[in-house]
Amino acid sequence: MRLFNFLLKDVTSKIEYYSRFSPSPMSIKQFLDFGMENACEKTSYMFLRKELAVRGANTMREINLLPSDLRMQPSISRVHSWYIQSFEELLEFENRAPEDSPVFLCDSFLESLVKIRNRHNDVVPTMAQGVIEYKQKFGFDPFISSNVQYFLDRFYTNRISFRMLINQHTLLFGDERTTSHPKHIGGIDPACNVTEVVKDAYETAKMLCEQYYMVAPELKIEEYNAKAPSKAIQVVYVPSHLFHMLFELFKNSMRATVEHHEDSSAGLPPVKAMVTLGKEDLSIKISDKGGGVPRRKIDKLFSYMYSTAPTPSLDPGSGTQAVPLAGFGYGLPISRLYARYFQGDLNLYSLQGVGTDAVIYLKALSSESFERLPVFNKSAWRHYQTGPEADDWSNPRSDPHDSSKFKNN
Ligand SMILES: Nc1ncnc2c1ncn2[C@@H]1O[C@H](COP(=O)(O)OP(=O)(O)OP(=O)(O)O)[C@@H](O)[C@H]1O
Ligand SMILES: [Mg+2]
Repeated sequence: MRLFNFLLKDVTSKIEYYSRFSPSPMSIKQFLDFGMENACEKTSYMFLRKELAVRGANTMREINLLPSDLRMQPSISRVHSWYIQSFEELLEFENRAPEDSPVFLCDSFLESLVKIRNRHNDVVPTMAQGVIEYKQKFGFDPFISSNVQYFLDRFYTNRISFRMLINQHTLLFGDERTTSHPKHIGGIDPACNVTEVVKDAYETAKMLCEQYYMVAPELKIEEYNAKAPSKAIQVVYVPSHLFHMLFELFKNSMRATVEHHEDSSAGLPPVKAMVTLGKEDLSIKISDKGGGVPRRKIDKLFSYMYSTAPTPSLDPGSGTQAVPLAGFGYGLPISRLYARYFQGDLNLYSLQGVGTDAVIYLKALSSESFERLPVFNKSAWRHYQTGPEADDWSNPRSDPHDSSKFKNN
């Protein structure tokens, strides 16, 4: 027991130590340059063993600031323990210089990275389960919901970045390099043809949609390259990230289109994709005629505590039928994090009764696509402490005759 307490104290002080460093954001161009010029495994090792510890420690400090009722939910404790274990494994490399026994060290580092990545595979659904556990026990609370929103946006961004760093290393130096795409640098495609990814994502979503509804809307694509009108639009980007966002948008558009036109004999209106390139922005608009969403709800669609889909079960024995086009309600919020991760964005514009436009914005230049990373500091800390503030705009729903409206009451 004493040994356990000693070890725990040691890890806690290490977390404290590493969380004092801010993460170092990399641009896509830097990832690319590093991977192209005879990528050096030792340099990558030296960078990662500290950077992953820093990013891990930063996020763990925030887990500790969650309200205890939430933090104590079994699924959230489980995720927390994965982070501690992975952090400990990274610390094993803290004092091991690559000169000691380079091959052995590099191999065991690679092995640890793969182990860590696998351990964290289910972080998103497990955290989602934790939020559900909390909601079932304590109900919906706007203060907790805004804390959860703030935390999960940062936590999942941190996770995206963690995986990005690990994948670059394993794809460049591990066994995966033999099976990875020959023209890609790690997970980055230096000439990613955007329309091709749009088509791939559409086809995959279409397959699911047809399985579930027996029909799927067609796709119509338009492309406008304002920079070089006769050329296909290409970008230096992580194709798997782009695919993820587009796949989520197509699933949503297809579900809305099919359900909105269920009783119509006129057939399904197509889903349209427009890919455009300007000096700064590469934009992709996915438009559907699925009936749209009321404007009042748009913000809620990005909320982790809200989804209109039936809650999926993590328990494979529960007999709940899989819902292929709607799950935890995390499609939009996570896709927006992917877009923002490299300084882009994802917005939804809806015309209620008619349809929805979803727009993904990416930086056109890889030198501007810097990782956008959460930093644990005083202002982050303050976010978790402040309670809900009184609304400083009038609220139409409150009773005008209610005397508690007077400020000094
Ligand atoms: N194009 C759209 N048209 C109409 N409603 C939409 C559209 N896109 C999203 N929505 C609404 O927003 C909700 C949230 O979307 P989101 O993709 O985040 O979660 P989900 O589709 O419910 O589940 P998941 O994507 O995790 O499988 C949807 O349930 C749906 O009600
Ligand atoms: Mg969805």
